Amino acid sequence: MAAGPPGERLVARNLRKDFAGLRAVDDVSFEVDPGEIVGLIGPNGSGKTTTINVLTGLLPITAGAVRIGDTDITGWPAHRIARAGMARTFQVVKLFKDFTVLENIEVGAISAGGVSRHEARRRAEDVLEHIGIARLANVPAGALPQGEERRIEIARALATNPRFLLLDEPGAGLNDAEIEVLMPTLGRIRDQTGCGMLVVDHDMRLIMGLCDRLHVLNFGRTIAEGTPEQVRRQPAVIEAYLGAETDAAGNVAGNAADPAAGAVHAAG
Ligand SMILES: Nc1ncnc2c1ncn2[C@@H]1O[C@H](COP(=O)(O)OP(=O)(O)OP(=O)(O)O)[C@@H](O)[C@H]1O
Ligand SMILES: [Mg+2]
Repeated sequence: MAAGPPGERLVARNLRKDFAGLRAVDDVSFEVDPGEIVGLIGPNGSGKTTTINVLTGLLPITAGAVRIGDTDITGWPAHRIARAGMARTFQVVKLFKDFTVLENIEVGAISAGGVSRHEARRRAEDVLEHIGIARLANVPAGALPQGEERRIEIARALATNPRFLLLDEPGAGLNDAEIEVLMPTLGRIRDQTGCGMLVVDHDMRLIMGLCDRLHVLNFGRTIAEGTPEQVRRQPAVIEAYLGAETDAAGNVAGNAADPAAGAVHAAG
């Protein structure tokens, strides 16, 4: 698969998003380099999905700026941002259930623009092959188990040849074995396409095992950033995951009473 033009970073500067009476994202700044995997983490409601929504133009931004390289894409409509090389997946999978897997991915390829039907089909087949699910090409998307649905959504995003891939909880609903497959798949996508990735997830094994750097939100604000090793030991991060406790090695253990926190379990 061809990667986008190399070298340009995704820059988010002082992002703010207000909903009526609520500041969901508050002065958040970070960068994602091409070929880099950045984890965007934080407790439920901390503003992760909203950040992806404003980066991709799904929601209008209240303040701040988004750039790809020197191009200021702030306020661009979603389709134009997509064509600039930003692709995303959704926390709640959105596939066309009556379409086959291959057709769903073709739609992704077409939505990015500039390709013929024939080229879109070829690209969709390539992507399916590439992430190891060619056998599912002709299965109706509505018949897939949840773990496979997530992979199809990633494939659909990938079919746009993105420069940046924004994944909202790719690990949600996956069992341990599926996470073990997802992790190297995402790593391979990065290695082979050179795209930059922003990964939101509550599965700390996935986040710690995959990401080069982490950006941690709580109540819409940045509370920590750095390598996974640096971030996991910060008291503010441990505290933010309410009910979470740390063991002697600094691992964050989830609170079993809280299903959301329960998904935050120790890496290593
Ligand atoms: N469209 C909206 N209108 C009003 N409030 C919203 C909207 N979308 C999100 N919010 C609020 O903004 C805050 C941040 O929500 P967001 O979905 O970004 O959190 P999140 O970090 O993705 O959480 P989770 O881990 O549960 O997915 C929450 O308080 C949420 O209720
Ligand atoms: Mg979310």
